[in-house]
Amino acid sequence: MKQTILVTGASSGIGLLLANKLHQSGHTVIGTSRNPEKYNLPFKLLELDISSDKSIESFTKRLFSQIESLDVLINNAGYLVSGLAEETPIELGRQQFETNFWGTVKLTNQLLPYFRKQRHGKIITVGSILGLIGLPTVAYYSASKHSLEGYFKVLRFELNDFNIKVSMVEPMGFKTNIGDSAVRSKVKIDDYDLLRKQTAAFSKETFDKAPTPEPVVNTVLKIIDQKDPKFNFPVGQGASFILTLQHYAYKAFENSILKRMRKAA
Ligand SMILES: NC(=O)c1ccc[n+]([C@@H]2O[C@H](COP(=O)([O-])OP(=O)(O)OC[C@H]3O[C@@H](n4cnc5c(N)ncnc54)[C@H](OP(=O)(O)O)[C@@H]3O)[C@@H](O)[C@H]2O)c1
Repeated sequence: MKQTILVTGASSGIGLLLANKLHQSGHTVIGTSRNPEKYNLPFKLLELDISSDKSIESFTKRLFSQIESLDVLINNAGYLVSGLAEETPIELGRQQFETNFWGTVKLTNQLLPYFRKQRHGKIITVGSILGLIGLPTVAYYSASKHSLEGYFKVLRFELNDFNIKVSMVEPMGFKTNIGDSAVRSKVKIDDYDLLRKQTAAFSKETFDKAPTPEPVVNTVLKIIDQKDPKFNFPVGQGASFILTLQHYAYKAFENSILKRMRKAA
């Protein structure tokens, strides 16, 4: 069945690949970007900055002046603040939450009245494996994604009677522009010199080896097709193993990360 689908952050990476695939399959796709004028894409791209209340409000008005109903919201827009926790200024952490958590929640809230009125819909949010586990240098990113897990877990219950399905997709590392557009802390505390070196080598190794994001896109497509999707969809090689290890053998999980970090440096 052809549907009307909103994909936030459709100018790059996962969102771009997803929006293109959905458009090619014949769905009506509305994508978003903070700078839509920069792109020439086969689907409609509207301006939206999810860290701005004003932008969310004017975007919603424009959206519903152009479409009659919305079947699926894909909350994909987001970015990465990286740096060791103590070396990352709180303000960078706040901004991380303004976009990844509050921006996603505010946009969802703005669209909920429409979903409730039509008594159907799907809300699919791109979280991260880092919303289910923690790794060094991504404290605020990981916290923002953990927060999304908690928020949407609750929302799923509350929207159940309205036939609105809520799911999360939790990708491992995939090659997109997330590394290039990451905001990195410049603060350096001498005590962390060795750890900083180890974590930098570990994340370079992880990013260099990362595959392109087709598996994430295929997972979202699967959720769109399912009548009653479950909540969590971890994606990527080793995701299930890592989650099982964390759940049943936390120490072993920690030790394997520490070992890999030390080896990478
Ligand atoms: N790549 C990975 O390894 C990975 C792993 C786990 C989860 N994720 C998640 O996947 C999602 C997509 O990221 P990606 O990897 O595809 O990165 P990307 O290539 O950098 O794409 C990020 C997208 O988000 C948009 N965006 C960023 N800040 C925004 C804001 N304030 N308001 C509206 N749009 C904003 C960007 O659009 P404009 O710049 O055009 O506005 C862009 O289209 C993110 O939520 C990310 O956390 C990625």
